[in-house]
Amino acid sequence: WGIDGHLIVCKLAQARLSEAAEDAVSQLLPAYAENDLGSLCSWADRVKFRYHWSSPLHYLNTPDNLCNYQYNRDCKDEDGIQDRCVAGAINNYTTQLLSYRDTSSTYNLTEALLFLSHFMGDIHQPLHVGFTSDKGANTIDVHWYKRKTNLHHVWDNSIIETAEETFYNTEVDELISALDKNITTVWSHQAKAWEACRKTSCPDVYASEGIKAACDWAYKGVEEDSVLGDDYFLSRRPVVNLRLAQGGVRLAATLNRIFG
Ligand code: ADE
Ligand code: ZN
Ligand code: ZN
Repeated sequence: WGIDGHLIVCKLAQARLSEAAEDAVSQLLPAYAENDLGSLCSWADRVKFRYHWSSPLHYLNTPDNLCNYQYNRDCKDEDGIQDRCVAGAINNYTTQLLSYRDTSSTYNLTEALLFLSHFMGDIHQPLHVGFTSDKGANTIDVHWYKRKTNLHHVWDNSIIETAEETFYNTEVDELISALDKNITTVWSHQAKAWEACRKTSCPDVYASEGIKAACDWAYKGVEEDSVLGDDYFLSRRPVVNLRLAQGGVRLAATLNRIFG
């Protein structure tokens, strides 16, 4: 996701933290964040260049057109190093944060919290679990209405921005409020099921859903130089809303399990 997608996931999550998780997050956030996880939810994108090793941790790639995901097959970087993908990163930072109450922990748990919060967002962006040959649709050039962009950017940013402009007075906070309200009303039963996970975190479940959504909605009907307008926007907006809401609910549930 772009800045707004990550902000949405982190704001939805922070409002759902247990008392113990809320305390731990406020201890781990730097003072300048003023206890606002959303303000640092895109930190991981800003350090990609300083922490070169972290750039493959934002996504994973699956074999073209198979439309399924397997950790052992797909969670590797371009050099084939196993576990270097967004699902492996979620497992790693979840494990690091479980050492929170261990006084001899040597991990940087502030960075672990910021990476986990960001990657929980990215794994819910369907094209961060896309096909290998097109780099998650980064190489598929399209027009978003009259503007030239690529299909990956449409899902990271354009659908969210057009929704904000069309329905929410160009205010991301109004979109966050609408999603928050849906989670507690129309989605309240489903939202319970989104939280379910027999371990501390379940990135393989989220990645499997992601590649299915990528095939069924993101890639579907799109080719090089397609013009995407109202039909694509209005039919895909519910999928983006669902994935943002799932990301927020699951980030909160994961932090609540980690911090007790
Ligand atoms: N680079 C290569 N594959 C990618 C993907 N699926 N998402 C984002 N960046 C990528
Ligand atoms: Zn992206
Ligand atoms: Zn990212």
